[in-house]
Amino acid sequence: MELYDDNPTIDFLKQDKKIDEDKQGNVFFKEELVDTSNQKKFYIESYGCAMNFSDSEIVASILLESGFHPTKNMEESDLILINTCSIREKAEATVRKRLRIFDKAKRNKPGTLVGVLGCMAERLKTKLLEQEKLVDLVVGPDAYRDLPKLISTAEEGDKGVNVFLSREETYADISPIRLQSNGVSAFISIMRGCDNMCSFCVVPFTRGRERSRDAFSIIAEANDLFNQGFREVTLLGQNVDSYKWENPETKETVNFAHLLEMTAKVNPLLRIRFSTSHPKDITDEVIHTMNKHHNICKYIHLPVQSGNSRILKLMNRTYDREWYMERVNSIYKIMPDCAISADIITGFCSETEEEHQETLSIIEFAKYTMSYMFFYSERPGTLAAKKYPDDIPLEVKKRRLSEVIDVQTRISLESNKKDIGKTFEVLIEGVSKRSDLDFKGRNSQNKMIIFPVVEGYQPGDYINVKVNEVSSATLKGIAIA
Ligand code: SAH
Ligand code: SF4
Ligand code: F3S
Repeated sequence: MELYDDNPTIDFLKQDKKIDEDKQGNVFFKEELVDTSNQKKFYIESYGCAMNFSDSEIVASILLESGFHPTKNMEESDLILINTCSIREKAEATVRKRLRIFDKAKRNKPGTLVGVLGCMAERLKTKLLEQEKLVDLVVGPDAYRDLPKLISTAEEGDKGVNVFLSREETYADISPIRLQSNGVSAFISIMRGCDNMCSFCVVPFTRGRERSRDAFSIIAEANDLFNQGFREVTLLGQNVDSYKWENPETKETVNFAHLLEMTAKVNPLLRIRFSTSHPKDITDEVIHTMNKHHNICKYIHLPVQSGNSRILKLMNRTYDREWYMERVNSIYKIMPDCAISADIITGFCSETEEEHQETLSIIEFAKYTMSYMFFYSERPGTLAAKKYPDDIPLEVKKRRLSEVIDVQTRISLESNKKDIGKTFEVLIEGVSKRSDLDFKGRNSQNKMIIFPVVEGYQPGDYINVKVNEVSSATLKGIAIA
């Protein structure tokens, strides 16, 4: 579910608040219902993790309220926004490349404002204005409510900057405008920030302190999505297992397991996913709650980062290899049909070949169905940048990464081969990218399954599909009535 910097950019479809429902209850936005020709238009691109994509939906909502209308055509926009990621050097380089393109658009349509939002805005602050002359707005992840004011400032010729990090902001009351939505799955942000200090990671600096969102506002959002026709929600946070919210009236504390259960009860036809779990925090209570509810998907993204205890210690992950393996065992014991995936970093400071081998072996041990794999990229200001030399040569980092990818591809294929002959309940997401004659959808384990379109079925419907062919990335099958 993560959408890291290597994933393609999204812009989004023109939408309007006036909606129309088809017989499935899926929502269609009818742009022709409203004359938007005189309205100011904004265009937005998002990079990075799912949190950023979810934030862009909040930004869209705030802008719509203040009279801006979305466009997917950069050339006709009055305001170009880019929601940025700082996680690796490459992510920032991609953003800088996009800024060059915006520069051209700005020259063709003088008066157009360019705003940098998100993690890179937060990391570089006003330095960004010195480095990138075309930028008019720099807005950090906790300052989006201030956007209308900052835009007015920029329209008057000054720079609009707000990179204040809040201890409270969760945007709980803002109804996100679903961008590029398939009308079936949606993100719900349940917390912001991160209090873990993984030594390689820039997120605590760009997103600030961890805070959990009001549980009732989360449930209300899930209900609302279900009523609009959505059938799957993904609860988002950097470390969802440390979700904790106190009901101000009853003083009762809602933890992540409780929240999962509350969301599962919204409707049995609403699938629940979540991301990301931290191995130090995922509890048996969470695993048992997942097991208890059919509509909580049997899939856990459990980033390991490294399979070696010394490296994990340097990374400040606060668990070791044994702890991680015990968590994996616990998951498979309670839910034998659960799928696990991971994030992996190769070539972290001082990593030896033997230590790298332990990362390869943990992939085999945990039998990840897939992984997001990266080579280490030193980030300015992080603990690792301050304390440990980035001493593994780039070719070695890359060679280790390709070994990790090879093992993961083999393990993914093995896992998929075991699915041949099995029948899964699939939530139809739409037609397949390759052919209109095929549907695509996922099973509970988050595996994508492609199968021939069945008459009478539509996106948002559940259907049983028997798998008959697999690759390392997808399953193919046939629907069973
Ligand atoms: N909160 C999540 C992950 C957030 S960042 C968690 O704790 O698991 C997503 C992934 O990017 C991380 O899991 C890590 O694998 C990778 N990553 C983060 N910083 C990195 C860096 N400096 N170099 C390479 N990969 C990095
Ligand atoms: Fe970064 Fe670690 Fe927080 Fe994840 S848990 S966002 S890797 S500091
Ligand atoms: Fe990137 Fe910020 Fe997410 S650094 S991964 S967009 S929290």
